Amino acid sequence: MSATLSLRKDHEVIEKALKALDTTVSLFKDGNDVPIAILNDTVDFVTNFIDRCHHSKEEDGLFPALNEKGMPREHGPIAVMLMEHEEGRRLASMLKDEIEKYEKDKSRKSSIIRIIESYIALLSQHIWKENNILFNIADSILREDSDKISSKLEGIERDKLDAQKREEYIKLLDRLTKQ
Ligand SMILES: [Fe+2]
Ligand SMILES: [Fe+2]
Repeated sequence: MSATLSLRKDHEVIEKALKALDTTVSLFKDGNDVPIAILNDTVDFVTNFIDRCHHSKEEDGLFPALNEKGMPREHGPIAVMLMEHEEGRRLASMLKDEIEKYEKDKSRKSSIIRIIESYIALLSQHIWKENNILFNIADSILREDSDKISSKLEGIERDKLDAQKREEYIKLLDRLTKQ
């Protein structure tokens, strides 16, 4: 199994979430209200699946393995990826605040739209760079250690997100992207 397989699979789930976020933006732009429960589910996914689980697998599993093979953390691809993870966390926390304000005042849609659009743009290009550049480099330089890294990533995932929650997210996203 390639060292990055589970991360690439996570990306497929995340891309579904970005599609659901895009639908949320369209609904808002057409003047509709979006149920708070859906907005909260989105923030929950971003916080737990993307930040807590997926980004930890990269930050504590893949990047240190690349670092051991000589890829620096302070500059180059890893530094850029880490910076973008931080930016994602910043936007996620802004989104959480804006949803709380929207709950009290349904006319406050424009900040949510702006934040979600920035988040989609950030994550789409981030995933593209990982899938097409960084992970290809990683698959090649970590070929010998791929089993060790795969089990390390599995361990981080077990620690950060229980398997049942992963299934629930996948079902939720299937529902949201079918509409
Ligand atoms: Fe990443
Ligand atoms: Fe990623």
